Amino acid sequence: MPQTMPIIATPGIEPAVRAVIEREHEAAFAQVRERRASAPRERDALPTMDFRTSERHRTGYLAIGPNQGRFLFALALSRKARTIVEFGSSFGISTLYLAAAAKAAGGRVIGSEYHPHKAGKARANLSDAGLSEIAEIRVGDARETLLDAPAGIDLLFLDGAKDLYLPILERLEPKLAANALVVADNADHLDDDDPFLAHIGTGRYVTSRIAFAKGAMTLSVWMGEAS
Ligand SMILES: C[S@@+](CC[C@H](N)C(=O)[O-])C[C@H]1O[C@@H](n2cnc3c(N)ncnc32)[C@H](O)[C@@H]1O
Repeated sequence: MPQTMPIIATPGIEPAVRAVIEREHEAAFAQVRERRASAPRERDALPTMDFRTSERHRTGYLAIGPNQGRFLFALALSRKARTIVEFGSSFGISTLYLAAAAKAAGGRVIGSEYHPHKAGKARANLSDAGLSEIAEIRVGDARETLLDAPAGIDLLFLDGAKDLYLPILERLEPKLAANALVVADNADHLDDDDPFLAHIGTGRYVTSRIAFAKGAMTLSVWMGEAS
């Protein structure tokens, strides 16, 4: 299935939401094409870049593709996730999928983004999609802004700075609901001995690695004590 395929009439995603998702995917693809033409090997350096200062983190979509979006939407929908937390929202493409699923369950999404102008654009996208009431974007370092996330997290999506996956998860672990889903993007960027991978490889999680046409994710089910 090509990354560029439209998200088609995915049941449960309203036309207004779909239109914004398609518009933003197209803008993200266009940006990738433009950047690859000028700096083809830039992607390799992503894990070593500082999310606060690097040009890519300040201006890049760095977004999931439609396959990953449908995957997140399906996970959240099947879990009937009412409390969804996202580390790293960028311009809000993943947030749109998560919010569409949260709306169906009567739930909400707490997103997070360090750069204020990106958070502003993510909010505008959510507003265009009619999802402002469902999803908020907290601005600043997620290590602080997500500290008071509510207990009972059904789905945690990790997509911010890769070296912070574990610190963020450790902060939020006491708030995970029973059998909560923890999804991490860019698993293909993590070394085999990465401490986050070691953590979700312990007996307190059931973890799978999902390979997509573009990159890989980990999907973990929390088997520890519920909040
Ligand atoms: C890969 S992009 C997220 C893409 C987004 N999830 C999507 O699919 O549309 C990572 C984003 O996380 C943000 N970020 C990284 N570390 C962060 C932190 N500690 N706190 C808040 N935002 C952070 C970056 O600024 C960047 O915009």
